[in-house]
Amino acid sequence: MRVNILSLLLLLGAHAGLTLGQAWPFGPFVTSGRWIHNSQGKNVTYAGANWPGAADVMIPEGLQYASITSIVSGIKSLGLNVIRLTFAIEMIDDIYDNGGDKTLLVAFQKALGTANGLKVYNQVLAKNPSFNATTTRVQVYDAVAAECLKQQIYVHLDNHMSKGGWCCSTDDGNSWFGDTYFDVTKWKRGLNYMATRGAKWGNMMSIGLRNELRQPSNNAAVSATYNWETWYTNVVAAAKGVNAANPNTLIFLSGLGFDTTLAPLTTGANLGSGTVFRKSDFTFANKLVLEIHNYQNSATSCSSITSGLYTDGFNALDTTNSAIKNVFPVVMTEFGYDQTDTSYTGVYATCLRSYLPAQKAGWMLWALGGSYYIRSGTQDFDETWGLYNHDWSAWRNSNSLSAIKSMAAATLA
Ligand SMILES: *[C@@H]1O[C@H](CO)[C@@H](O)[C@H](O)[C@H]1NC(C)=O
Ligand SMILES: *[C@@H]1O[C@H](CO)[C@@H](O)[C@H](O)[C@H]1NC(C)=O
Repeated sequence: MRVNILSLLLLLGAHAGLTLGQAWPFGPFVTSGRWIHNSQGKNVTYAGANWPGAADVMIPEGLQYASITSIVSGIKSLGLNVIRLTFAIEMIDDIYDNGGDKTLLVAFQKALGTANGLKVYNQVLAKNPSFNATTTRVQVYDAVAAECLKQQIYVHLDNHMSKGGWCCSTDDGNSWFGDTYFDVTKWKRGLNYMATRGAKWGNMMSIGLRNELRQPSNNAAVSATYNWETWYTNVVAAAKGVNAANPNTLIFLSGLGFDTTLAPLTTGANLGSGTVFRKSDFTFANKLVLEIHNYQNSATSCSSITSGLYTDGFNALDTTNSAIKNVFPVVMTEFGYDQTDTSYTGVYATCLRSYLPAQKAGWMLWALGGSYYIRSGTQDFDETWGLYNHDWSAWRNSNSLSAIKSMAAATLA
C-alpha cells in the first residue's frame, strides 16, 4: 500500500514537473533578443549534427547498421545536445492522400527495389527489434525522438524536401514555392502535421520551415517569382500555421541562395513593393530564430568567411549595431567537411570551429551518418563527410572528432 501511494506521488510529481517545464528539456523555449531561453530563463545554445531522413526512403538513415539507441549514445558521447532531423513532405502527403503512411518494407522496396528493399528491411529489424511489419515511417521518427528524450537530446525538425530525395539542386523540382514538387498547400499541411506530432514527443523544441530555398534553373515561371517578397508571403503564412498547430515550438526561418543569406531580414530592408520584415509584426516574435548554412570549404581566409557571415545574417546577433532592425538568435544549421582527409585542419573548418562558439551561436554539422540507404540513385552511398564511418559502428576520424568535441564543449560552456 505504502509503495502504491509513493508511486502515485512520484507520478503526480513527474506530471506536474512536465506541465510546468520543471524537468528536462525545460521547455518550451522562447527567444529573448539574440538568445534562446528555456523555461527557467537560462540560455540554451544548440550544438549538434544533422540526421538525414528526407531522402528517397523517407526514414532516418543508418538503421540497417545500428540501433537508434547506439546512434543516439554516440551523439551523446560527443557532448552534442541536438539533432536536426530532416523529413520530406511526401511522407505526410502519403498519410493524407495515399491511404496512410507506408510500412517500412513498402518504403524500402519502393526506393531500393524488391530484393534490396527486403534485405535492408530485414537488417533494420535485426538492429532495431522494436520495429515490426506494421511499423510506419513516421513511427520511426517517433522512436528516434523517444530515444533522444531518454538520453536528453533535443530534436530540431527540418523540412528538407517536398519529394523525398537527395537535396539540393536547382533542377530537382523542390527549389522554390510552386516548383514541380513544391506544392505550397501540401508543404504547409506537412509542416503542421509534423509540428503537431512533435508536440507529443516532449523534446521537439524547434522546426525549420524549409531547407535551402533556391532559384530553379529549369522552371521559368517559378524562377520569375524568386525574390524576397514571395519569400515573405509564403514563409510568414507557413510560420503562422505552425505556430497555431504548435504554439510551443521555435520556428526557424531560412534565407535565399541555398540559405546562405538572410541579409534584408536583419536590416529591415525593403523586400519589394514596400514589404518589410519586422519582428514586431509577429504575435509570436519570441518563437522566431534565423538559420543559415555555410559551405565555403575552399576559402583561404577566415576573416573573409566571418565578415561575409556577419553581413549575410550573423549581424542579427549584434545588439550594438543600430543598422540592425531585427535582432534574433542565429543558428548555423548546416556546415561540414570531409572526414576522410585533413580537411578538419583547413581554414574553413578551423575558422567555423572557433567563430561559432565565440558568437555563442548554435550549429549543426552535416552530417551524422556515414552512409545513405540511397542517394541520387546509388544504394548504400558512402557519406565521406559523415561523423560515423560507413556502417555507423565507429567514428571516421578520431582527430577530427576530438576537435568537434572541443567545439561542442566551448559552445556549451
Ligand atoms: C546569456 O549569455 C550571455 C553571454 O554569456 C550573458 O550575458 C547573459 O546574461 C546570459 N543570459 C542568461 C539569462 O543567462
Ligand atoms: C509494431 O511496431 C509499432 C511501432 O513501431 C508498435 O506500435 C506496435 O506495438 C508493434 N506491434 C507489435 C505486435 O509488436
